[in-house]
Amino acid sequence: MERIGFGLIGLGRQSDLVHARALRRSGVARIAAVCDADAELVALRSRQYAGGDGPVPGYTRYADLLERADVQAVVIATPNVLHPEIAEAAAAAGKHILCEKPLALSTEDALRMLEAARRHDVRHMTAFTYRFVPAMRYLRHLVSTGGLGTVRMVRSRRLMDWPDADLGWRQVRSLAGSGELGDMASHRFDHAQAMLGPIVRVQGLTRCFVPERRASDGGVRPADVEDWAACLAEFAGGATGVFESSKLCRGYGRGDEGVDDFEVNGDGGSAFFRLGTPLQLSVGRPGGTMETVPVPEAFSASVAAGLATVAADDPGAAFRDNQMYAFIDAIRSGRDCSPNFLDGARVMAVIEAVQRSAAGGRAVDVVQVG
Ligand SMILES: NC(=O)c1ccc[n+]([C@@H]2O[C@H](COP(=O)([O-])OP(=O)(O)OC[C@H]3O[C@@H](n4cnc5c(N)ncnc54)[C@H](O)[C@@H]3O)[C@@H](O)[C@H]2O)c1
Repeated sequence: MERIGFGLIGLGRQSDLVHARALRRSGVARIAAVCDADAELVALRSRQYAGGDGPVPGYTRYADLLERADVQAVVIATPNVLHPEIAEAAAAAGKHILCEKPLALSTEDALRMLEAARRHDVRHMTAFTYRFVPAMRYLRHLVSTGGLGTVRMVRSRRLMDWPDADLGWRQVRSLAGSGELGDMASHRFDHAQAMLGPIVRVQGLTRCFVPERRASDGGVRPADVEDWAACLAEFAGGATGVFESSKLCRGYGRGDEGVDDFEVNGDGGSAFFRLGTPLQLSVGRPGGTMETVPVPEAFSASVAAGLATVAADDPGAAFRDNQMYAFIDAIRSGRDCSPNFLDGARVMAVIEAVQRSAAGGRAVDVVQVG
């Protein structure tokens, strides 16, 4: 079978470490073209991803990449502000789309992306990567099969220690849309909604504790997005949620480490997930204590039958590969993706509601989409 040709648009960290890696391991896809606004980076990746036909064709304008007939699908991994215009152009060109989160800067833009993908009948996926973590897959299974009884509460903490250094486009509202809400909390909102259905009302609180950040050239750059965010949430089904996210938690570990907890409390038990241990859950039953339970193998296996198996020895990378395999599987089978652009738009609605709530100092309803 002919390998599916992929165009990578945005060639930064996420594109290289996650998407290009998974594509090259899949065995059924190939990187057919690359694009970035930075010409030097284009040249570097063209050589780095070279295959039997030599360097990968590279472009600095995504419109040129979209003209290629050998590109059937694209990955959009640019700063958030560019996701909508690129996705709409890609859909119009008939390309299947895996777009990074947060899907857009607003619910309205996210819904336009969804509408474009549906109109042009292309597969569409939002890269809520953590959906594919084995322990999170198992947790969803436990909840959906009633293994924890009726869920009453969920709790999420994403706490890291990053220095007060320049975050580039991530610290600029007009480019990123939000700070912690889009960067980390978006994954947790998505996971909670995938398990429990829509969040309908939130009370949010946000802060920008570090409004100026020092760049590597010694200059100081303004930051106008929240670097701490928290919210209380009500789900349509009656459950409640508590979410908190920040990279200002000193002593919590550099880089991507830190605390990444997601907990569910049902009337039949509690389950607790921690990112550092993706192959186990802590589970407790009424009157008992929390005990470590290994995640059954079925939940760390490849989500796409017939595609490359995920690296069992490297669970931290394997779930990221699985995200791409799910997208490729959707393209090959013609099935809808999960998570798709509708899931991405639903998360945008929650983010916007938290922002409105934080600005107004009161609880607000989440606009329901779909
Ligand atoms: N799913 C996840 O867990 C996860 C993790 C990290 C980042 N992300 C998302 O991935 C996206 C990219 O993040 P990153 O960390 O790779 O950022 P990055 O800054 O490392 O890379 C972004 C790249 O986009 C390029 N770019 C800018 N304008 C462009 C244009 N007009 N055309 C083509 N390329 C352009 C930049 O030159 C840069 O190389 C963001 O949306 C981010 O939120 C998701």
